[in-house]
Amino acid sequence: MPAGLHERGGPITVVRMADRIRFVLNDQPVEIDGLSPMTTLLDWLREHRGLKGTKEGCAEGDCGACTVVLERPDGKHEAMNSCIALLGQIDGLVVRTVEGLQAAGGEPHPVQAAMADADATQCGFCTPGFVMTAYAFASGGESADPDTIHDALAGNLCRCTGYRPIVAAMTQVAGLPIEPPAIAAARTAAASFDDRFHAPRSLTELLALRAAHPDALLLAGATDLGLLASRSRKPPSAVIHLAYVPELTAVDETSKDVTIGAAVSYARATPPLAASFPALRPYLSRLGSRQIRTMGTLGGNIGTASPIGDMPPVLIALGARLKLVSPRGARELALESFFLDYRKTALAPDEVIENITVPKLEADEMFFCDKLSKRRDQDISTVAAGYRLAVEHGRVRRARLAFGGMAATPRRAEAVEAALVNDGFAAAARALAATFTPIDDWRGTAAYRLQAAQNLLRRLELRMASPAYALEVEAL
Ligand SMILES: Cc1cc2nc3c(=O)[nH]c(=O)nc-3n(C[C@H](O)[C@H](O)[C@H](O)COP(=O)(O)OP(=O)(O)OC[C@H]3O[C@@H](n4cnc5c(N)ncnc54)[C@H](O)[C@@H]3O)c2cc1C
Ligand code: FES
Ligand code: FES
Repeated sequence: MPAGLHERGGPITVVRMADRIRFVLNDQPVEIDGLSPMTTLLDWLREHRGLKGTKEGCAEGDCGACTVVLERPDGKHEAMNSCIALLGQIDGLVVRTVEGLQAAGGEPHPVQAAMADADATQCGFCTPGFVMTAYAFASGGESADPDTIHDALAGNLCRCTGYRPIVAAMTQVAGLPIEPPAIAAARTAAASFDDRFHAPRSLTELLALRAAHPDALLLAGATDLGLLASRSRKPPSAVIHLAYVPELTAVDETSKDVTIGAAVSYARATPPLAASFPALRPYLSRLGSRQIRTMGTLGGNIGTASPIGDMPPVLIALGARLKLVSPRGARELALESFFLDYRKTALAPDEVIENITVPKLEADEMFFCDKLSKRRDQDISTVAAGYRLAVEHGRVRRARLAFGGMAATPRRAEAVEAALVNDGFAAAARALAATFTPIDDWRGTAAYRLQAAQNLLRRLELRMASPAYALEVEAL
């Protein structure tokens, strides 16, 4: 049981009063009172603050017209989509919009000057979003190689200029000196902003709130849930925001495991995961866009339980374990046992995913993963696969394989593993057909998905046989 949860025989009640949302916008402190914390940041900027530079294009995190930049205390600048971010999530953060970019004396910021010099705009609708993405990229100290620029731009769409001049502007601004935030944001100490938006600051508060508000949805990065407020204009009736609970935002590493808090963003989770599992770096670079990876989390990807979520199949193949916590205590569950049926999980109503632990590879093991989607970027997988293999003299001795898009849930494929170890790749492809009934939807028919998954196994065989082929595939 988490310390202090049941003191004097009963659960602790969170008694703090509702508080204002405080953050820093374009170097000025802001306090918001009397407005729903479920309002999107974009609506607040445009309709309440009169800052119309930030645009609404798709209202679902896809086009980047609403991009603003979070300026972290460590100097990191991260682009994010303001259309799917809820005001309550912004508490304690430092935000910059395109209006906050002007250099001293009203001169255009170097990023704006570079966009103008490169003729990187026509109708201009997408331009503030591109400018903010370029600003985050420029101050990140990254190189101007085409792959990095492509990665930075994957979350922004332009319908009229064409990307060549935009890439040219990005090339010009790479590596601008980092400007740390002028003032730090004070984070509110509140556990709730109103009776609908709960923002616990400790695990104890989180579990007490979960018990007290069983109908409130857990909210991590809001890249799934935020769409209810933006696209559907029907925000959840109540949420419990997880981003400020220390246990859920910790990253821990031992010689045996990597543990990622469930509310750690993809942007923060990628370096420790990629250090132990290098194949995850290119894989994660195709999950959404940078804007989505600033906010989205592993806990959200698992909690949403989509059969086509990118991370469950690779984490199942790796043998990941979940720590689930509730007022009744903590339990550990293999990720493969978490998904029970379509969007149905083993999470009890009072439980929360605290973290995900991934065992590191043994000396004889290697790990590969693959994702097929209709677009390279900004698109969830049609079929995804993870393979953890122990190989000796070119033969697979042990295997853990898992697939997404091949059933109502992401699933481990034990029969395919056995066929691979005992009889090789051709037998594994046949076992795949006998094991799975793939889902059938507009992303891919069941027949397509089966064929594609079998082809992924063939690709794995080629990859293992030829390191040069592996490099080509990683570069796709
Ligand atoms: C433009 C766009 C592109 C995307 N591209 C991809 C993609 O390429 N691949 C992909 O897989 N997904 C993609 N997604 C979906 C989404 O980004 C991911 O599923 C993401 O991981 C969700 O995480 P989150 O923190 O934003 O979750 P949230 O939206 O905050 O929550 C999602 C669900 O998980 C539950 N939840 C969150 N945290 C916990 C927890 N700790 N314990 C229990 N339940 C919890 C919530 O209650 C909710 O039901 C995309 C989304 C958008 C908008
Ligand atoms: S409006 Fe398109 S990503 Fe936000
Ligand atoms: S300049 Fe018109 S959409 Fe990009």
